[in-house]
Amino acid sequence: MDGKLGIGIIGCGGVSEVHGAAYMEFCDLCHIIGVCDVAPARALGRMREWHASAVYDDYRNLLADDRIDVVSICTPHYLHAPMAIDAARAGKHALVEKPMAISVRQASETVNAARENGVKLGVIFQNQYTPNNKFIHREVLPLLGEIQFSYLATYHYRDSKYYARDPWRGKWEQEGGGVFVNQAIHAWDVFQSYNGGVDYAIGYWANILHPTIEVEDIGYGLVEFKNGSHGKLFTTTCWTGQNEMIIQGEHGRIVGSVEEMGNCWFELEDKSLQERLMEELQRERQEAKYDAEKWGEGHKAQIRDFLEGIVEGREPFVTGKSACESMKICDGMHLHGWPYTEQLRQYIRGNFHLPEGVEAGRKQAWDGGQLHQRILGIVKNPERKLETLASL
Ligand SMILES: NC(=O)c1ccc[n+]([C@@H]2O[C@H](COP(=O)([O-])OP(=O)(O)OC[C@H]3O[C@@H](n4cnc5c(N)ncnc54)[C@H](O)[C@@H]3O)[C@@H](O)[C@H]2O)c1
Repeated sequence: MDGKLGIGIIGCGGVSEVHGAAYMEFCDLCHIIGVCDVAPARALGRMREWHASAVYDDYRNLLADDRIDVVSICTPHYLHAPMAIDAARAGKHALVEKPMAISVRQASETVNAARENGVKLGVIFQNQYTPNNKFIHREVLPLLGEIQFSYLATYHYRDSKYYARDPWRGKWEQEGGGVFVNQAIHAWDVFQSYNGGVDYAIGYWANILHPTIEVEDIGYGLVEFKNGSHGKLFTTTCWTGQNEMIIQGEHGRIVGSVEEMGNCWFELEDKSLQERLMEELQRERQEAKYDAEKWGEGHKAQIRDFLEGIVEGREPFVTGKSACESMKICDGMHLHGWPYTEQLRQYIRGNFHLPEGVEAGRKQAWDGGQLHQRILGIVKNPERKLETLASL
């Protein structure tokens, strides 16, 4: 039309709001042409909100609209890979919400489809776009020397109402997992990127407090990274807690909470270097004017990078290929832990005092008690093996 990229947004539910807002703000680069949802009222509402000119109830018709160059895919998890593959075949660049697929196999099929059709593929991991994260990748990681050990524990309390909100949540076939693929994956993607990608992962998981859903609400695991180091993970939707992460290198470490804000810090052996880099980071944070408290800020940064990548003919910071790495953790932990799930659930229920359900736990301010302490003991143990809960 006027040299700007034409945008289509598929899926007009909750998260689409921040995609639409970012594209509207970047009117120097793009404009929203079409929206699509199987719920007509939602689609129409978004069409008006974003001043789009076309509304579709079938995404294939949106993909056939030749005014559209780029699509955001904001649908339930099981639709991400098929829609992104169809988008690639239709010659559209696709920015897909996390998780990019519900298996590594689907994820790599998506990457291949984008490559074969010469289009860009991005996956939303907005915590990768914080000033802290970019600074750590650029300035701090190269100084750490060999990574010796890492761990990450994240807490994402979700009650039954959350799962009842939309029909696709909590189901293996549609959500593709629970806390691993929906909540923890944000932090896992940052974690894996500090370690240079994933070789393989194993883990144990169960559903202990969410009887209305099929998928896991707690799990822990071990990841072997491509850099030769290993790390351990814990995550749950059963209680709240303070996220913790350590990436221990020879000459320093990265510390902090990566969930929500991508807000990690670092401690270096060389204190004068540490001081200088901290000052530099503070300066960059101010210049970036990145409001870490504001929902949508990370999406905005990632969407800008994706659009500029298309215009400049370069890859975005988070590519489809890099996003496969955190999918490997989800798949590895799910598949390894699958045969032990019922055993683990019975063991936990028989050996730890649990509240009646997730809401009861919240009322009692239950913090996982002894169960939490046991699992943290395993996760913080730098030994290169994964104990079962019962063996401690
Ligand atoms: N990056 C983040 O921080 C973040 C936050 C929230 C959600 N998400 C992700 O965004 C995705 C959507 O989540 P949500 O909370 O917006 O869910 P939602 O249920 O609110 O929205 C999904 C929308 O997709 C529509 N839809 C379903 N099938 C469709 C089809 N075949 N064609 C077109 N539209 C279809 C639904 O009608 C619904 O409007 C999920 O992958 C979720 O994990 C990411």
